[in-house]
Amino acid sequence: MTHITVIGTGYVGLVTAVGLADFGHKVTGVDLDTSKISVLQKGKSPIYEKGIEECLQRNIKAGRLDFTADIADAVSRADVVFIAVGTPPRPDGSADLSQLESSMDCIADNARNNTIAVIKSTVPVGTNRRMQERIFKHNPAAKIELVSNPEFLREGRAMQDFFHPDRIVIGTDSQEARDVLEKLYSPLNLISVPFVWCNMETAELIKYASNAFLAAKVTFINQMSNLAEVVGADIHAVARAMGMDGRISSKFLHPGPGYGGSCFPKDTRALAAIGDAHGVNMSLIKTVIEANEQQKMRVLDQLKAMLGSLTDKNIAVLGLAFKSETDDIREAPSLTVVRELLRASARVTVHDPAAMDNFCKVIPNLTAASSSYMALENADALLILTDWNEYRSLDLRIIAEKMRGRVILDTRNVLNKSLIKEYNFIYRGSGYRLD
Ligand code: UGA
Repeated sequence: MTHITVIGTGYVGLVTAVGLADFGHKVTGVDLDTSKISVLQKGKSPIYEKGIEECLQRNIKAGRLDFTADIADAVSRADVVFIAVGTPPRPDGSADLSQLESSMDCIADNARNNTIAVIKSTVPVGTNRRMQERIFKHNPAAKIELVSNPEFLREGRAMQDFFHPDRIVIGTDSQEARDVLEKLYSPLNLISVPFVWCNMETAELIKYASNAFLAAKVTFINQMSNLAEVVGADIHAVARAMGMDGRISSKFLHPGPGYGGSCFPKDTRALAAIGDAHGVNMSLIKTVIEANEQQKMRVLDQLKAMLGSLTDKNIAVLGLAFKSETDDIREAPSLTVVRELLRASARVTVHDPAAMDNFCKVIPNLTAASSSYMALENADALLILTDWNEYRSLDLRIIAEKMRGRVILDTRNVLNKSLIKEYNFIYRGSGYRLD
């Protein structure tokens, strides 16, 4: 049985550890954060992710999955070490690789010969090769092959994505490493998942190019949506017809208040920094980054236009997570929008089915409502920022009863519009006009 150690128990690391254990491998998850490890040892997931806790408990019970904070020991017992540590952005947008470097040093010091180290973290092009060199400099006797295996999991659908990926990308120069990885992922052959074998630099660039392309696609539809509102077109029909073209595809064409999360903002900035470092023009991606910032601020402009002034207005903000099905608020549009609302002296009441605690830790002293309807009490305006399903079924009659004003800005187009006119709402969605 292959023994795998996964360093890092964030979204990527934990899902990888749980998923590989479910494939039948023996997996040890490690993290420096001892409080996280003790939660995991009890079979509880520190992250909000559909299906993870059940899979976690099943594999712990089967004796295939355990967790420890002793990284050196876990590394010394592994045939394959996956590295899924954070690579957060530095102030200049470039990636901070310090966690990755210390993982490499630990592997160089403790791994057995012929261990394979697989980097899952998103890292600037050239990093895998530099890490390979770093291991040899640190311990010239170490015989460790490095592999770049970028991850394409989406938060909220990470378990589903792990077991049904569109593709597996593996960058390595080593035939031995390829053989081991092929065996490790062999359960995916049953569902004919395609494998892309390439060098490390290609694998690294595939990850950045994929995220940057998707960020650009979202930004593109957001700008088309802004235009549609002004010229009297319907963005839903535009997106639907565009998506019928197989070259475009219908996914990632939903307009909104701008993309957020722990990946698109960080990876687009890192890609721009990589281009700058190599003297290559990355103007397209820089424009995407700027347009996304404008998209968030546009929410404020729209609200101002609808309300007159924001001062002393009661604003109910529904949806704080950067997207639905997650409690993650990293780089969420809600952070920018709520901060700006407070700066404009509005009174803000917030609600989110999952992300409220995380949000109130970052922006304290807000009124946090225990239900979406509670948030609407006496509101002058309702602002929807996340496409949670529970907001789709909100009853406009009850909304009208609760609110004292009539302004609704539905940036994700989730509300049922049939009764908007009956209750005299001043309504704006994204990308169309309600005639
Ligand atoms: C993204 C990628 O989709 C994953 O493939 C990748 O593995 C991951 O980053 C990563 O690098 O780790 P994620 O950040 O979980 O996944 O979120 P997405 O579902 O891609 O959404 C990103 C943002 O775009 C969200 O704010 C979402 O609301 C927004 N979005 C997405 C739209 O506004 N419209 C769309 O049509 C799609």
